[in-house]
Amino acid sequence: MRWLDRPIVLVGLMGVGKSTVGKRLAGDLGIDFIDADEEIEKAAQMSIAEIFEKFGEPYFRDGERRVISRLIDGTPRVIATGGGAFMNDETRTLILGGAIAIWLNADLQTLVDRVSRRNTRPLLRNGDPAEVLARLADVRNPIYAQAQLHVRSKDGPHNRTVLSILEALTQWHS
Ligand code: S3P
Repeated sequence: MRWLDRPIVLVGLMGVGKSTVGKRLAGDLGIDFIDADEEIEKAAQMSIAEIFEKFGEPYFRDGERRVISRLIDGTPRVIATGGGAFMNDETRTLILGGAIAIWLNADLQTLVDRVSRRNTRPLLRNGDPAEVLARLADVRNPIYAQAQLHVRSKDGPHNRTVLSILEALTQWHS
């Protein structure tokens, strides 16, 4: 996609596959992939769970905003964001102004199945993941919907989602 003149930012709930899909999408497009959560961990020299524990969520959100603003510099790359990044007004404005935001969305059950594979997410440690995700979906989906493109991630191989994104991008551009 020669016309691509800015980053692609994947937004959506935990477990939807932003990192896996993002990596493959970047590979297909021949551009770099960056995981914003990993950048935050590198900068803080700590895991996200430790940042939440030691400094609290607002501190994490501030780091998240700074990392994302550094990554949106006009260079075409694929950026996977943590599920809450797009909820921050400043971060969302940055993304919508300087990148193409893609909302990856999936059924609640698909998300629940996928998050059950890892126990590293602080927001899912207290309480039933299905309930937490359902609550987050109610609050966040209307905001994710502000993304320029919406793509559904079905239960199945992530490659299918990558293809849907490529189609959505081509359609959006034409
Ligand atoms: C969060 C999602 C996580 C991570 C943090 C908070 C959220 O990222 O940023 O635990 O608020 O939804 P993933 O969406 O990559 O799991």
